[in-house]
Amino acid sequence: QDLTAVIGAMPQEIAAYDGMIENRHEVNVGGIQFIKGYIKKRNVVFVVSGIGKVNAAMTCTMLLQHFKPSRVLFTGVAGSIDQDIHIGDIVIADSVVQHDFGTLTDGNAFQYWGAQNPIDQSKNPVFFKADSLLLSTAKLQSASIMLEPIVIQQLSRAPVITNGIVATGDQFISSVQKKLELKKTLHAQAVEMEGGAVAQVCHQQKVPFLIIRSISDLAGSDAEVNFSQFLQIASKNAAKFVGCIIEAL
Ligand code: ADE
Repeated sequence: QDLTAVIGAMPQEIAAYDGMIENRHEVNVGGIQFIKGYIKKRNVVFVVSGIGKVNAAMTCTMLLQHFKPSRVLFTGVAGSIDQDIHIGDIVIADSVVQHDFGTLTDGNAFQYWGAQNPIDQSKNPVFFKADSLLLSTAKLQSASIMLEPIVIQQLSRAPVITNGIVATGDQFISSVQKKLELKKTLHAQAVEMEGGAVAQVCHQQKVPFLIIRSISDLAGSDAEVNFSQFLQIASKNAAKFVGCIIEAL
């Protein structure tokens, strides 16, 4: 039977699906709690990976090995590093890049591993491209979905769904300098801590994947405060959007 997997890094990101899951039951595999059930009559397995690339890679590998899903969706929150993408907006990742994978030299100069890198390019491209069918389904759904407005400093704003490059690394970015660097060097729109790891595992195992991120903060000096403030509403909107994508598959 066709199965869609949904991974989130934090319990709040998966709890956002609670009201949508029917026939819910839990399965423990190697100490990891997976939730099986149905969303809009589609067979789905959910899992909380924990934060960061290692947790995400391990959980994704166990998920693929045990459940053999037809596709993997990653949902959760991210920091925006694009001035046109605001808190509450959603970024569909056309591609994902690991921003902390490369060579660091004196003077803090960082080099992403491009064509001349020491690793196998076909297995480890710098940019991992999302599955084109999942991407087009997501873009189509983004045109018709209604999301919860986000209230920031008494101003209410409807979330906008865009697509772009998502940068992943084992760092919570709360730095204007780092955010500008990521924008300039990778042309990324959002930054998070798991997408690139899930993308690498899925790419090597030939499983279609798509990363969907809802913006909780702007990766600058207020990032930690905004993250705590908007985690729940941003997770809820991401879950609502992913629910629509699953229904359309
Ligand atoms: N996830 C949400 N906000 C983030 C940030 N600023 N940096 C990294 N991961 C995030």
